[in-house]
Amino acid sequence: MSSSTKTEFQTYDNFINGEWTKNASGEMFPVYDPSTEEVIAQVASSNQADVEKAVKAARAAFDSGPWATTSAQDRGRILFKLAEKIRQNSARLAELECRNTGKPIVEAEYDIADVATCFEYYGGLATKVLGSVNPVPANALSFTLREPVGVAGQIIPWNYPLLMAAWKLAPALAAGCTCILKPAEQTPLTALEFANCFAEVGLPPGVVNIINGLGETAGAALVAHPGVDKIAFTGSAAVGKLIVKSAADTLKRVTLELGGKSPNIFFTDADWEASIDGALFGVFINQGEVCSAGSRILVEKKIYPQFVEAMTEKAKRIKLGAPLDRETKMGPLVSKEQYDRVSSYLELGKKEAKVAIGGNRPREFGKGFYLEPTIFYDVDNTARIAREEIFGPVATVIPFEAESDAIRIANDTLYGLAAAVWTRDIYKAFRVVKSLRAGIVWVNHMQPTYVEAPWGGYKQSGFGRELGPWGLEEYLETKQVFVNLDEAPINWY
Ligand code: NAI
Ligand code: MG
Repeated sequence: MSSSTKTEFQTYDNFINGEWTKNASGEMFPVYDPSTEEVIAQVASSNQADVEKAVKAARAAFDSGPWATTSAQDRGRILFKLAEKIRQNSARLAELECRNTGKPIVEAEYDIADVATCFEYYGGLATKVLGSVNPVPANALSFTLREPVGVAGQIIPWNYPLLMAAWKLAPALAAGCTCILKPAEQTPLTALEFANCFAEVGLPPGVVNIINGLGETAGAALVAHPGVDKIAFTGSAAVGKLIVKSAADTLKRVTLELGGKSPNIFFTDADWEASIDGALFGVFINQGEVCSAGSRILVEKKIYPQFVEAMTEKAKRIKLGAPLDRETKMGPLVSKEQYDRVSSYLELGKKEAKVAIGGNRPREFGKGFYLEPTIFYDVDNTARIAREEIFGPVATVIPFEAESDAIRIANDTLYGLAAAVWTRDIYKAFRVVKSLRAGIVWVNHMQPTYVEAPWGGYKQSGFGRELGPWGLEEYLETKQVFVNLDEAPINWY
């Protein structure tokens, strides 16, 4: 097929100051194709010394490099060029993303298109960062300057690798920051390939650096480093808490997107076919490895038995298969670690609730981290499978009696990233929307995500917002400037 299927065993160093740079220890770690369990690349395992180098480069680029005086227009143009590069290479990048994550190729293609759109959006926004003139009661001019935060450390997960890189790099560059990106150790390949075009589009050396490595070493060193001004993180709540603690020592700005246990609520009057589809799509897209997965499916009691039955019937049609097969709707989980973690929840779920479908490893696959799409029903919201983020193809269906119960159960979680409600009753829909403690609420849909609208959570799903103007805001400082217009001395002493 294409060239990337032949280059089985590439090695990747770190990308620092515009150059591929060997890591200090020389240690590498393997990167896998989760559908075959074969090694497809070897990547540098970075430590403190490597992070030191990257911070030095990013710091110099921010403090005294040409980037510091690159105009907003030119930063915007560079972002447009990055988008163009992504579009030119979209087939190759989608295939690489597909092979490295195990997600279906069709979904990978959507992701790569969204990556390009994200760079375009922030390319346009770069020139629309405005300050204010402040009506102070003095013979003076008071105004604000919006300035970049500085060096941004960006730590991303493995479920949407290049898209998560784009969500972090694009607003940071629009704002004028410099970046040190740490991809997830499971899925660094697309971001690393992307780095090959940085010089060509005119990004000066040191503006975007990529450090490979494990979270506990490379990631932790980045968070602790005093030369880093801000950390943007997407990943587990457990690591989010570690990051806040460590960042406290240097009082870094931190933004966190930590996933959830999002409710997808179905009322009797909702469109039936759309609801069944929406319940499945909400939780099984991307193998369920989605921070906003609708993993708690709340169904009104009147339709509950039929709903579970219809979901189960339709779930039988979900085609598991090779990620590169265009018919595939669900690939393997990303790693052995994630497969084991989700498998242990499958065993737990069999004790805590009833199985409508799935619950096992599918027989037809000899290799690969495949698991069946699984629906647990008669789940109590106090069960661990209803409280803990599973991050795999596992749905829990929970019945409710009245609207007030739906809201109570929906909000009875430590998380608050997303939620959805399905009904034709406009009064009910908006009452529920207002009652839900979540950063994203869909009505009669679940999962559509657009760069124009904010993304982020309430409660223990984190803080800060990505995307839209909100995403750019997180990379900006506000400087207040006071210009005295009164030439007379203060005359105080
Ligand atoms: P993780 O939170 O450990 O990894 C995410 C990123 O953080 C990776 O780049 C990793 O290298 C880095 N990291 C890990 N430990 C770190 C540390 N001490 N300091 C700095 N960076 C660190 O996620 P993991 O272990 O891959 O998955 C565990 C669970 O996390 C999943 O089952 C899922 O529930 C959740 N998760 C949520 C995501 C989301 O989109 N909100 C994405 C990935 C995982
Ligand atoms: Mg981890």
